[in-house]
Amino acid sequence: MDLEQIKKSAINEINNASDVKLLEGVNVKYLGRKGVLTNILRSLKDLSMGDRRKIGPKANILKKELEDLIGKKKNSFINFSKDDLFFDVTKPGLKISSGHLHPLSKIDAEVRKIFLSMNFSVVDGPEVESEYYNFDALNIPANHPARDMWDTFWLKSSGPAKSKFLLRTHTSPMQVRFMETHNPPFQIIVPGRVFRYEATDMSHEFNFYQIEGLMVGHDISLANFKFIVEEFCKKLFGPKIQFRFRPSYFPFVEPGLEVDIKLGSGSWLEVMGAGMVQRNVFDAVRYNPDEVQGFAFGMGLDRLAMIKYKIPDIRLFYNGDLRFVRQF
Ligand code: PHE
Repeated sequence: MDLEQIKKSAINEINNASDVKLLEGVNVKYLGRKGVLTNILRSLKDLSMGDRRKIGPKANILKKELEDLIGKKKNSFINFSKDDLFFDVTKPGLKISSGHLHPLSKIDAEVRKIFLSMNFSVVDGPEVESEYYNFDALNIPANHPARDMWDTFWLKSSGPAKSKFLLRTHTSPMQVRFMETHNPPFQIIVPGRVFRYEATDMSHEFNFYQIEGLMVGHDISLANFKFIVEEFCKKLFGPKIQFRFRPSYFPFVEPGLEVDIKLGSGSWLEVMGAGMVQRNVFDAVRYNPDEVQGFAFGMGLDRLAMIKYKIPDIRLFYNGDLRFVRQF
């Protein structure tokens, strides 16, 4: 086939192509990688100089011509329907899915708000702690059997040989850190993440959240604690709540107690450990135990959320399933 013939049949086929697919077929046939015209252009190098000068420019012009024709024909297939031109401004937009607060974030915000309304301040502390703040300063020396109450993730020690580091097993170390740098009277809460080296089940996680409370001043007594805790729980769970205060033991409080609550006809649920700050803890922060008194408490945020939202399994908070999170 010479170039004239190719041109004729190509133009003919382009004109007859009745849809985009057929047109693409023509494109491939003449201009594709193994197309008729492509082959001619590719074989130019094998021709004599004379033939090359004769055919080369013509073939290139034809190539350009066919490309233009195919392009134009292609455009002619794009036809606008009425719908494309009419923009309905009353149509509802696509719903953009927005983020959602995790139930633990929600209850955290609520707890903070309640305590702020009772004139408490919110304080933050480190998740990696030293053995001193997590245990020793809280009247739990090395080898004290009470250390068994907190199964601990110890960190490979770096830094000075003497200090051992761990992931804090409770928020109580912040009692010490705060008292070291502040003078009473004050009242604070410390919300934060804590870690325990434990097997998980429906009520245990190796990672969960606590809220520590500490109020220190002159003549602070358990009566103050009782009032604050009852106010807090009534604000969080509603006024129809019953309380039970049971004696208990934590090395950093004396007396120590545990608080149970009961909602409606439900069963008694333990919500916090608490007590009057032990003299040894005041000694560690160089307060005079004869001049100041205080109470401390620690509660599990997860526990509060489980009670408030009736969540049966603590592991649901951490499995990342959005179908769970979106329910709150
Ligand atoms: N830190 C204790 C725990 O994690 C709770 C607690 C806090 C008890 C403050 C008494 C006073 O179990």
